[in-house]
This record gives sequence, C-alpha cells and structure tokens, in this order.
Amino acid sequence: MTASLPEAMQAMEIAQPGGPEVLRPITVPVPVPGHGQIVIRVAWAGVNRPDALQRAGLYNPPANASALPGLECAGHVAAVGPGVTRWRPGDAVCALLPGGGYAQYALTRADHALPVPEGLTLREAACLPETCFTVWTNVVQRGSLKGGERFLVHGGTSGIGTTAIQIARALGARVFATAGSDEKCETCLSLGAEVAINYKDEDFAARMRAADGADLILDMVGGSYLPRNIKALADDGRLVQIAFLTGSKVELNFAEVMTRRLTITGSTLRPQSDLAKARLATELETHVWPMIARGALRPVMDSDFTLQDAPQAHRRIESPGHIGKIVMRVDHDD
Ligand SMILES: NC(=O)c1ccc[n+]([C@@H]2O[C@H](COP(=O)([O-])OP(=O)(O)OC[C@H]3O[C@@H](n4cnc5c(N)ncnc54)[C@H](OP(=O)(O)O)[C@@H]3O)[C@@H](O)[C@H]2O)c1
Repeated sequence: MTASLPEAMQAMEIAQPGGPEVLRPITVPVPVPGHGQIVIRVAWAGVNRPDALQRAGLYNPPANASALPGLECAGHVAAVGPGVTRWRPGDAVCALLPGGGYAQYALTRADHALPVPEGLTLREAACLPETCFTVWTNVVQRGSLKGGERFLVHGGTSGIGTTAIQIARALGARVFATAGSDEKCETCLSLGAEVAINYKDEDFAARMRAADGADLILDMVGGSYLPRNIKALADDGRLVQIAFLTGSKVELNFAEVMTRRLTITGSTLRPQSDLAKARLATELETHVWPMIARGALRPVMDSDFTLQDAPQAHRRIESPGHIGKIVMRVDHDD
C-alpha cells in the first residue's frame, strides 16, 4: 500500500562530517516500504546526542540504514509493506528508526513502531523511542534493576537521564542522580530522584559510599568517572556504560572488580539486530506504556525547532543548558 506516497521529500542531510552547520536541506526520494516495513509521515522528529556524534563522523549508520540522521519520530503511517498486519495508513505511531528521521517520511520496521500512548501528543511521543529503548535494555535487561535497589544515573537531566530516573522510580528503585547545576539537580528531584548530586560541588563516589553504594550505575560520562564508579558501587554492584562523553581509556584496578564481585558491561542500541529491537518494543509496550498511562513516566521537554532549524537544534543539544528532550517539527506542504 504505497500509492499515497509522493516521489520526493524534504530532509536534512549531513553534507560532510563537521559542526552543526553541515546539516543542510536536501530533496531526496521518499522511501518505499519493503516486506515487514512501514513508512511514517513524520510530524515530529526527536533529536539525540548520537545524532550529533553521527554528524561529527563518529557514529556511522549501520549497513542498509538511511544515511540521513534521526533515530526516532512520531507521525502517521503513510504506507505499509507486504506482510504488515498491525498498522494501517493513518495510524498514529512513534518509532525507533535505523536513521532517516530528519525527513518528511521515514522508513522503519513495523515491529519497531509503537502506538502513541494515550494522553500524549505526537510531539511528546516523538521523544520516547530512543530513550525508552536505551534505558530499558541497559537498566532492566542488562542492569537487572530491582525494586528497593540503589540506582545511580549520571547526566540526570539528559534525555536518557530523565527517562531513567522515572522508569527506575516506577520499578520501585531508590534513585540517585548527578547533574551539572543546582537547577538540573532540582529537576532530578522533581522527577523522583531521592538524592541529586551536583558533580561540580560534590564527589558523587563519596556520597554513594556514604549511602552504602549503588547496586546499579548507568553512565554516559566515562573517563575519570570509571574508577570513581567502581568506588561508588556496592559489593555485587553493576556498572552499565552507554557512552564515553569524556573518553573511554583509563587505568583501572580490576582487583576491586574481583574482590567485590562487580560487573562492568554496556551496550549501544543502534547496531542491535532487528529482532532484538522488536523484542524490546514488545517489552516497552507491556511494561513502559502502562507507566505512561498511569502518569509515572512523562517525557521532559526542553525545546522545539523546525526541521530546517536542525543546526540550531544540534547547537542546543551540545550546549550544557538543555534539560530533557529536543524535538523538531516537520512541515509538510503537500
Ligand atoms: N548506548 C546507547 O545505545 C545510547 C543511546 C542513546 C544515547 N546514548 C548516549 O547517552 C548520552 C545521553 O544522550 P542524550 O541524547 O540523552 O543526550 P543529552 O540530553 O545531550 O545529555 C548529555 C548529558 O551529558 C551530561 N554531560 C555532558 N558532559 C558531561 C561531563 N563532562 N561530565 C558529566 N556529565 C556530562 C550533560 O549533563 P550536565 O550538564 O549535567 O553535565 C547532559 O545532560 C549521550 O552520551 C548519548 O551518546 C547512548
């Protein structure tokens, strides 16, 4: 069912690796859905830190994915490929994308799309997929967070952090968060963190030791945080690494990992198999969408841009000022 698709669309491409200014408008063919795929008429596209990494040439799209940036969107199904039974043209969805969200139409697998949760706008729904998939796979599947455990998340006001705080709280964990200003710490507390640590004023490792250590840490900072995370963990604690904003090479004494039975792991979402992402989508619909329905999880919105303003959106996500998610409205003039 592709008859309603136009041939060409507006998108933002990465003209060459570089700063935000390399994001340029381009006209490209509208994707056509293959077996098991859908095309979404994008209403809103989420902006994520990995988009900025891709723009800088540090995070290449997987084989067969669109070279256009954009890992998540919300909108209406425009066309479905053969074998798709769940969705019909016109359905409101939000979806994880392999790339290509900075465009008027985006292609993804039907089983990587989810219904827009009741009570959320398309703008809010566009913020869910990348953070919810990432938090669920790292905090719950990989990190095995349980109710009553002490959970520390760094970057508490990032898109990932704001989602992690709320999901961990909804699971009954005790949440500790770090952030780079008092205002950001206030946000972490308002989202359900029991303790928010301004890492510029206070040593988070000492604070966690005073609280008997973290059972699970979700970290995106890396660098000097790695040995301090080891100190901050309780015996049998787990560290899940999802990025290295300050570097991935450090000297570590692994003796403590052995003697205190620590686990260090990590993952990235984008290269995971289609099947793994489809299974994650099912878990989100079963466990996380009900959290949204009962008001335990809501996307924290920082700012809106238009698709043409993608360079400004990237400047915003790379600035220390933002709290929560950044989205771009995609104008359609057809
Ligand atoms: N592994 C995966 O699958 C996966 C998927 C999605 C995202 N990620 C990663 O997760 C991170 C968050 O993504 P996002 O889109 O939510 O980004 P974001 O909203 O831009 O958040 C980045 C956060 O990092 C913190 N930060 C930056 N530099 C720091 C430093 N030197 N020390 C301590 N904190 C620092 C900032 O908080 P402060 O101002 O408080 O410092 C900010 O809240 C990114 O690194 C991204 O690459 C990984």
